[in-house]
Amino acid sequence: MYLSMQKNFRAFTVLAFIVTFTMFLFGFTLRDPSLYFFKYAIRKSDIFFSNGQCGCQQCMTELEDDPWFTERFNLSVHPLLSRRNSLLTNDTYRWWQRLQDHKDPANFSEVVEKLFQVIPDNDNLYKDAGPERCRTCAVVGNSGNLKGSRYGPLIDSSDVIIRMNMAPTSGFEEDVGSRTTHHVMYPESAVDLENTTILLLIPFKTLDLQWITSALTTGSIKETYIPVRSRIKANKNRVLIYNPAFFKYVYDTWLENHGRYPSTGFLSLLFAMHICDKVSVYGFGADRYGNWHHYWDNNYHGGEFRKTGVHDGDHENNVTLLLADKHKIDIFRGF
Ligand SMILES: *[C@@H]1O[C@H](CO)[C@@H](O)[C@H](O)[C@H]1NC(C)=O
Ligand SMILES: *[C@@H]1O[C@H](CO)[C@@H](O)[C@H](O)[C@H]1NC(C)=O
Ligand SMILES: *[C@@H]1O[C@H](CO)[C@@H](O)[C@H](O)[C@H]1NC(C)=O
Ligand SMILES: *[C@@H]1O[C@H](CO)[C@@H](O)[C@H](O)[C@H]1NC(C)=O
Ligand SMILES: *[C@@H]1O[C@H](CO)[C@@H](O)[C@H](O)[C@H]1NC(C)=O
Repeated sequence: MYLSMQKNFRAFTVLAFIVTFTMFLFGFTLRDPSLYFFKYAIRKSDIFFSNGQCGCQQCMTELEDDPWFTERFNLSVHPLLSRRNSLLTNDTYRWWQRLQDHKDPANFSEVVEKLFQVIPDNDNLYKDAGPERCRTCAVVGNSGNLKGSRYGPLIDSSDVIIRMNMAPTSGFEEDVGSRTTHHVMYPESAVDLENTTILLLIPFKTLDLQWITSALTTGSIKETYIPVRSRIKANKNRVLIYNPAFFKYVYDTWLENHGRYPSTGFLSLLFAMHICDKVSVYGFGADRYGNWHHYWDNNYHGGEFRKTGVHDGDHENNVTLLLADKHKIDIFRGF
């Protein structure tokens, strides 16, 4: 801690000296617009102020951290499923199977094996945290509060941009941006993707893992508890699976078992917190009139989203606000 502060202080001193010296040399005053370059450069070069945990000014894991956060944030639970971590504990497996109570699930380990014959099994993805990395992430929810926000360029400037379920960008670029690096979905909410976008599947049952395998190959699975897309357009080299063990960790540790299970938005937020150094949240919650609806439609759902009986939106909202309070995430509230 002391050493890294000293290093930062030294870097800052050197920078301050350069700026002062340049000002002196060219007789600039602080009001001179050309100095905005320096201000901008200082702000952009977060590295000078980094605390050593990551390359950003503020990192997800700080050296002197908040006890509430450190008690919960567990980097050893990996958000993605791989062959290696697919041996779920009995507890996790049983909890996960009960989420949607599907009868007679297929043999999990056989399903996982078939799945990873179709999609890549990369156990090292995103495990690259370190003092050089400053990965900025935007988690973009679907709230109507994005309408008129003009957040598009800000969202698009992030390294990772996570969208979910039916979220369109076409026609809404000014407010929601146009880039999508990760699209989170489950069979019942699936959409076609660009070749470069990563599909992040949240499985709620064994059948969902069979569905993604099928939807990328034979198209034989056509329904779950409702009819679903039998095929989707997506790059099968860019498919990731949300780890059921991580799912349970989010529910137990972050939601303290409120609601039946976490919402897609909350699961995406925790995913981002585990793979990013800096997380910004857009399009969460109601609009400024207290209405709950999607940014792409005008169907007001009158609180239906908040209290579906499945998710505890109030509690998720409380935890999200607490994370912002503790400067772990930035919330962009929209309009
Ligand atoms: C973090 O997760 C790992 C793996 O699930 C577990 O063994 C460990 O006890 C957890 N640590 C804390 C502090 O909860
Ligand atoms: C997990 O469940 C299996 C089958 O139900 C059982 O054979 C095994 O002993 C259980 N393991 C533990 C650690 O409880
Ligand atoms: C699932 O399949 C594996 C591999 O074929 C087998 O070893 C295991 O016993 C099966 N589990 C159950 C519960 O049938
Ligand atoms: C999509 O990307 C893959 C590489 O990840 C490439 O092999 C394939 O040709 C691309 N498909 C299209 C339609 O661009
Ligand atoms: C959320 O926070 C509010 C205000 O602190 C509190 O009244 C409410 O009980 C909390 N709700 C849940 C579900 O924790």
